[in-house]
Amino acid sequence: MDNLNGVPVADDRVAESRMDAIEKGGLSRRQALGAMVSAALVPVAAANEALASSPRGKAASGPATKKAFIDDLIGKMTVDEKVGQLRLISIGPEMPFAQIVEEIAAGRIAGSFNTVVRRDNRPMQEAAVTRSRLKIPLFFAYDVVHGHRTTFPIPLGLAASFDMAAIERMARVSAIEACNDGVDMTFAPMVDISHDPRWGRTSEGFGEDPYLVSECARASVRGFQGPSPDRPDTIMAAVKHFALYGAVEGGRDYNTVDMSPLRMHQIYLPPYRAAIDEGAGGVMVALNSINGVPASSNTWLMQDLLRRDWGFKGVTVSDHGAITELTRHGVARDNREAAKLAIKAGIDLSMADQVYLAELPGLVASGEIKMAELDACVREVLGAKYDMGLFANPFLRMGKKEDDPVDVRADDRLHREPARAIARETLVLLENRNQTLPLKKQGTIALIGPLADSGLDILGSWSAQGVATQAVTLKAGIEKAIEGKARLLTAHGTNVLDDQKVVDYLNYLNWDKPEVIQDPRSVEAMIAEAVSVAQQADVVIAAVGELRGMSHESSSRVSIEMPGSQRKLLQALKATGKPLVVVLMNGRPLAIGWEKDNADALLETWYAGTEGGNAIADVLFGDHNPSAKLPISFPRSAGQIPTYYNHLRIGRPFTPGKPGNYTSQYFEEEQGALYPFGFGLSYSRFTLSGLKLSAARISRGQKLTAEATLTNEGAYEGADVVQLYISDNYASIARPVKELKGFTKLTLKSGESRVVRFEIGEDQLKFVNAELREVVESGRFTVQLGLDSRDVLEQGFELV
Ligand code: BGC
Repeated sequence: MDNLNGVPVADDRVAESRMDAIEKGGLSRRQALGAMVSAALVPVAAANEALASSPRGKAASGPATKKAFIDDLIGKMTVDEKVGQLRLISIGPEMPFAQIVEEIAAGRIAGSFNTVVRRDNRPMQEAAVTRSRLKIPLFFAYDVVHGHRTTFPIPLGLAASFDMAAIERMARVSAIEACNDGVDMTFAPMVDISHDPRWGRTSEGFGEDPYLVSECARASVRGFQGPSPDRPDTIMAAVKHFALYGAVEGGRDYNTVDMSPLRMHQIYLPPYRAAIDEGAGGVMVALNSINGVPASSNTWLMQDLLRRDWGFKGVTVSDHGAITELTRHGVARDNREAAKLAIKAGIDLSMADQVYLAELPGLVASGEIKMAELDACVREVLGAKYDMGLFANPFLRMGKKEDDPVDVRADDRLHREPARAIARETLVLLENRNQTLPLKKQGTIALIGPLADSGLDILGSWSAQGVATQAVTLKAGIEKAIEGKARLLTAHGTNVLDDQKVVDYLNYLNWDKPEVIQDPRSVEAMIAEAVSVAQQADVVIAAVGELRGMSHESSSRVSIEMPGSQRKLLQALKATGKPLVVVLMNGRPLAIGWEKDNADALLETWYAGTEGGNAIADVLFGDHNPSAKLPISFPRSAGQIPTYYNHLRIGRPFTPGKPGNYTSQYFEEEQGALYPFGFGLSYSRFTLSGLKLSAARISRGQKLTAEATLTNEGAYEGADVVQLYISDNYASIARPVKELKGFTKLTLKSGESRVVRFEIGEDQLKFVNAELREVVESGRFTVQLGLDSRDVLEQGFELV
């Protein structure tokens, strides 16, 4: 998508325009962007001059300086200018570009999101720092979630790496690319814990476990913000969606959340806290309600918990249109009341709605909103701009006009090496019968399936500026890997979906042009062709799963089965008797019981990003030994949801091998997850042995060490993740059966052994009690070490 200067502009992310267009009766995105032409261009020299004479031409430091600077600025602001600083707009049908520039010049806009081209952003910044009365710079935000120009694997895949250095590197590279496009802030990391794979946004988060998700949150913030978000190559991280969005009832997006305070503190809140403790400068507030009170008007959430208890000092931003939605939640009579509730609860910036702009001046005039309340929000917005280094230099990230990239999509702007290296770490080997994998680069290989050659789907949702034609598909990756050595035959096999209504929904939902292109042939004809291709091959690779739009915002499913006719295709391929390697591409756990039992090898690849095809080929042909682990349990069926591993103890648990009557179970199906949290195989055989605790009993304040030996008994060098779980045997409240408290990923040569040690002290034993206080209680604990959450070595100790 180009603007009329021929410069590509934000492509895939048009959530803002979608919603506005719907509400305004269907303005197309192309029409909207066509309006972006007549920007009043201000020469850069003028901008720089203005900057030099601006209140703060040079970076200053220290909280006192920052406070004085902001106090001074607030003292000069009119109410309208203050309100303007609480307004985050999206570039799209909401407003034609020329009008946006005038609004900026009038001091009525704080920042924008979804413009990620310097040539588009520059005139806006120039209007702010040359034409607006107080010359307050704008900031530019964007959803840089798992990459920017380069797309890395989706967050669920990143979590599967159990490699925090890899996640930090992903965020670092993404920040560098975003900075090169003049982006100052990202709406990430997304750290919503999900226990319900029906929820499409499960793909965007890091899975089900509070410890793992918290570690991923920290690593992301470190990568995005670097040592400080005020550098030309760092961006501010706004953690989202605060809070509990992943617990929407029934996995249905935007639904309500009803949750006990204990569960909040034990499972869902820690990752947001971790991101904040790591220094995240922003918090995006969730769309859902929490125990009846929408997050966007939730004083307990934003004042008591976030600011008072957690000491958050940054900026809060509503999610898209969330303030207006307070009327739909039925807690505000009208927009005026919605604005009042939101600002009083603590929403600083309103995203993509006009409510603050329209209502706050009147509310201040009537005294319903005190000037101090308005100022408190303005202070946070200006503070964030200060922290992003924008008062020191509004063009910090945009740089000089003459350096603007000519081709923003040029391939040399991508970071393919880290994308491939990181993607390889995210692929989970679920089955490998008779050592089907790694494949030899010889003979004839059949690659079959609707996702085998899709550059779009392999990017996953929220792929920022990722470009489908720059993505290496699985087909391209395999072709390159076997070039000159083996023959590749291909067939489409089937469409991902058969139901036209669902296809239409996905096409309408996400993008401005249809993404789902259906092969018009009949299922039977496609499968017959696939079978004949398979029959000519030595081995069959089937690439199946979900379209990326199926694991996205507003993409909740009622079923987690393999969609459409893909299972039929797999069954037909299996019937050929050829070894069947199933490569899954999906953004949520799927119910893959049939594949588990029938595939000769099963590789979960999520959506592996720009270099996905190369990374998957690296694993299929043994150039890389897989080492990833599931960051979320895979249920057997949707009926079994939720299937998280760290559930509370109950009075009548199902015990394998014992009579099942009157125990907690579903009687038509085997119990427990199909694949447990933490599970993943390697081409090598890793064993863990000799668990030893340094003490059988410790007193408060003391620590003990748990150690075991990891051995690579296989023929290949490889890595495995040793996981530490702790189970509190009895306490003042029912405690989880086990909880992840540490992990370490080790690479061992064939035949090598290494001792792994974990320290256990109060940090690992504490929990939130019924009074919501963090406590450590004496008693018996079981330490478990394993290579997944189910199959563990265990030993007890006592805390006295
Ligand atoms: C999503 C947010 C996102 C925002 C801006 C909303 O629809 O819920 O996660 O940051 O759009 O793109």
